[in-house]
Order: sequence, then C-alpha cells, then structure tokens
Amino acid sequence: MKPATALASPGAAATPAPTAEGRVRAYHQRTKHHLQRYAAGPETLDWDAQPDPFRRWAGAVVTMLPLPAATLAQGESPAWEALFREGAVPPRPADRNAIGLLFELSFALAAWKQHGPDRWAVRVNPSSGNLHPTEAYLLAQGVRGLDDGLYHYAPREHALERRAQARAAAGEGTRLWIGLASIHWREAWKYGERAFRYCQLDAGHALGALRYAAAVLGWRARVVEGLGDAELAALLGLDRDGDFQDAEREAPDCLVELLPAPAAPAGAAPDPAQWLMAGTWLGKANRLDKHPMYRWPVIADASAASSRPQLEAACAGVPDARPPDIPGAPAAAAEPAVEIIRTRRSAQRFDRRAVMPLSALARLVRALVTAALPWDLLPGPARIHPVLFAHRVEGLAPGAYVLPRSAAGEALLRSALGAGMEWLPVDGLPLWRLAENPALAGTLRTINCHQALGSDATLAVAMLAEYDGALAGAPWSYRDLLAEAGLLGQVLYLEAQACGFNGTGIGCYFDDALHELLGMEGTRLQSVYHFTIGAGQHDPRIQSTPPYAGREEYAWTPEPSNA
Ligand SMILES: Cc1cc2nc3c(=O)[nH]c(=O)nc-3n(C[C@H](O)[C@H](O)[C@H](O)COP(=O)(O)O)c2cc1C
Repeated sequence: MKPATALASPGAAATPAPTAEGRVRAYHQRTKHHLQRYAAGPETLDWDAQPDPFRRWAGAVVTMLPLPAATLAQGESPAWEALFREGAVPPRPADRNAIGLLFELSFALAAWKQHGPDRWAVRVNPSSGNLHPTEAYLLAQGVRGLDDGLYHYAPREHALERRAQARAAAGEGTRLWIGLASIHWREAWKYGERAFRYCQLDAGHALGALRYAAAVLGWRARVVEGLGDAELAALLGLDRDGDFQDAEREAPDCLVELLPAPAAPAGAAPDPAQWLMAGTWLGKANRLDKHPMYRWPVIADASAASSRPQLEAACAGVPDARPPDIPGAPAAAAEPAVEIIRTRRSAQRFDRRAVMPLSALARLVRALVTAALPWDLLPGPARIHPVLFAHRVEGLAPGAYVLPRSAAGEALLRSALGAGMEWLPVDGLPLWRLAENPALAGTLRTINCHQALGSDATLAVAMLAEYDGALAGAPWSYRDLLAEAGLLGQVLYLEAQACGFNGTGIGCYFDDALHELLGMEGTRLQSVYHFTIGAGQHDPRIQSTPPYAGREEYAWTPEPSNA
C-alpha cells in the first residue's frame, strides 16, 4: 500500500493546522484596535434588549446572606493599612455571617443608579462596561450556618443558590473555595471580538476583590495551582449540559482556596467525584439574551485554544518582587478598609487641573511591587510591568516612566523598549524615566481611543505583558497575563481610592500605537490593559440608592456550639 502522503499532488504543501498557541496569538492580533479601524464588534446595539445582568439557577435552594449591617458593626472594620500587616487582623470564624461579609466586599451590589428612565446596578467589583461576566461559586465544608456543598452567589439578592450537596464524609474540618467562571456573551454582546480579553481582565479584578475581602476577615487566599479547566468545570457543574439547555455557558476561570485558619497550608482542589454527592444537583441556568443579534465564533476559538490542562502544581513561590524601601511613601491609609472597598467607583471624568502628590505616587508604586497582599494570591513571578505616564505629579517631570516588577522583567524591558529611551533612575522610587515629554497627555488621549480620561488623568498607565515568553508552549498563559493585569488594575483602583483619587480601567486603546510610542517591535512585550488615575468629578444628575434597601434586614445567629 502506498503511504498516504502519496495522495497529495506533487508540490502541494499541506497547510498545517494552527497550533493552540498560534490561535491564541492570532486572536490577540485580530482583536487589536487600530487608529484607522476598531476590532470587529456589533455595528448596532439594541439597548432595550440588553442581556439580563444576573444569572440565576431556577430551582436551586436559596440561602439568604446577612446584610452588611448585621455582619460588621459600625467602627469594626480594620484599617486599610492593617490588611498588609501579617497577623494584624484577627481571623473571623468561618460562619454564614463571615461568608455574607466576604461576598458583600467582593461581588455584591454597591448601589442602584438612576438617570432619567435608566436604572442600573453597580457592584463592589468593577467590570468592563459594567457588564459583569464573572460568576462566583462557593464550595463550603464545615461552615457554621451553611450545609456543605456547592453554591452560586446571586448578587442582586445577596444570596447563595445551592447547586449540589457535598458528601457527608467529604472531608474533615473547615475548607472553603471560591470558583470563578465567565459568561463571555455578557461582554461580547457589546464589545464583539475583543470581549474575551475583557472577561479575563474582569476575572483578574474579581480575584483582587476577593483577596482584599478575605483580608478584612483576617483570612488568606491562594489560587489553586495546576487545576485544569475540565476539572474545574466538573467541580462547579459547568459541564452539565442539561442544566444549561439554551442558556449561555460559563467558562471556568480559576479556583481560589480561602484559608480562615492562621498559617493553614493551602491544599489541592477537591475531587468532584469524591466531594460532591451525585444526584443532589438542583437548578437550571436562566437565559440572559433571548435574541442575540450577532455571533463571534472567534471567542469560542480563543477560549478553546487557551484552555488550561491539568498540570502538576509548579513549585509555588511568592513573586520575586520585594517591597523596596520607598522613603517618600507615607504609611498606608488608616481609613476603615470596608469604606475604601465599598466606595470605590470608576471616574467618568477627571478634573484636569488636579495634581497628584509624590507621596501618593510612591504609595501606588509600592502597592504594585510589594510581595504582600494581593500578590500572595498568585503563584509564579510578576509578568506585567506598568509604564506610568505622569501628566501632573508633584515633583516629577511630565513624561513616561517604567516600573519593572522583577529583575527578569527589567532585563526584558531594557532590550525590548526602543533604543532611544533614557533609562534615568528616579530618586527614591524603583522607577526609570524613559522620556520627558509635556505633550504626552494629548497623545495618551488619542491612544486610549480618544477618551478624555487618558489626558485629564494625573497618571495614565499602560501594562506591558511578557507576551512571547509566557505564551511559548503554554497558550493558557494568555488568560493568566490578562488576569494579572486585571489584578494590577484592582490594586490601582483601591489604592487610588485610599489616596483620595479615583481610578478607571481602560480596555479601549490602540494597541500598536502604544507599542510604537515606546519604540517596541515584535511581540516580546504587548500592552494588555490600560488604566487612568485622577481626581474624579461627580455627576450630580445620577441618583444613587443603597443596594439592598428593599430587602428585609436579616441576621444569622449562630446556634450555641457543642464544641
Ligand atoms: C477591564 C475594564 C475595562 C474598562 N474599560 C473602560 C474604558 O475603556 N473606558 C471607561 O470609561 N471605563 C472603562 N472601565 C470602567 C467601567 O466602565 C466601570 O468599571 C463600570 O462602568 C462599573 O463602574 P464602577 O467601576 O464604578 O463599579 C473599564 C473597567 C474594567 C474593569
């Protein structure tokens, strides 16, 4: 028999199927915004037919969570600065009140907003376009006031929906995990092909929100390493076709273990077959968009190509960044942590005369390079390095500055940024000045999709990812890079708030225009997220009401313990 290759006509080279890494790279490339052309997205939007912002599981057992007033008495919040000092916040017992507070400070509604006939909810965590693709699941074992099992968090009600029960003999002691998953359609509805990126950035913000909330409870948290997407989907019930029917699917993001006990070691994910009780699943997912007008198959392809295999947990380690000695950085804020978390809002416009004190910049810089919270959440070294465009920072010449977050990152930046960069050290800060340029504000406005936030901010940021190095042989790292950038964004939001400023994430920017500005060629580094910080201006036309005003006040009181 002739070999199969003999069937091919001479000279016709077979086109090899693109590798997963190639497909991820192609996705990133085609979803760049260009000055002359935006990435493909819907040409028209029917605002009255927006997808339902809330996923519900009809038929699941609902457990109401206590409202904030019941879980944290006035004046009981730890100071913001205490979150960063090991042992400074005594751990709360893992009970239903603590779970209520954890979700309230991470994924709950923060307010209902109204402008004319439009009414919408904002949440404690930010989200691209306020579309909130990230769903949160709780796996609870040994939590007082909650049956062991898998729950979905419903933010509109501040309630848990029990999807499945855990086996009676699932395990000993208290164990807690939060699983995150993304509904890509939520973002794709508005943003088209670029939406997959936004979902990953939002997941990074969600991770940050969760880590800070855990810190208020005196708990630690750690992403479970090596867990594959298929395994996580099985654990969260995302692979149960019959429970979704025609509802939009959820893609698994990651699993975080919460550690309420001091110094308890982080463990592996529970095995769903061992941990969940078969036959106890309840709930059907609601369909969010009854009449989708567009389809973006490239998102499903990027998601499949970047799917995470089950891996041996790599050697865990704290990021190799270390808190530098920053003499100008004041002690972190003494304000109550819950105030900073609850009042965080994106600025929609900035006061273009505001100036940022150098001490505030020092604080932001320190928060990005410290090995402490929230960076203790992630395994592996830092792979995102911000370029800061200082428009109006006291004592700092307007211009571009780079903040390498690791020694390896600095070496890469030195070789990949344009040869014309100055690389002048900045006194007292781990920053290098790349170029002094008072005209940069206008340029940043253009680069950030002509958004005035880019020029009116006191500080604009571009986040450069170690792109080629991370993706080589590990296409799922694309998601990790975006999530790490989202986590940086969450740090900037909260630290800006703590300094009396406001942040706004910027997902819309012209990718290669930014790369050209920095003299970058090739794809060793790619900008994956932008950010702006300034003095936010309040819009008095928008009315705000408390998030759960209509809900009956409810407190869970622990039964006297036999222990
Ligand atoms: C990943 C991401 C990208 C964003 N991109 C933009 C943007 O390009 N322009 C903008 O004005 N706001 C942007 N935002 C801010 C959101 O619009 C804002 O978070 C959302 O409206 C919710 O408001 P809140 O942050 O006050 O909760 C972005 C936020 C995130 C998390």
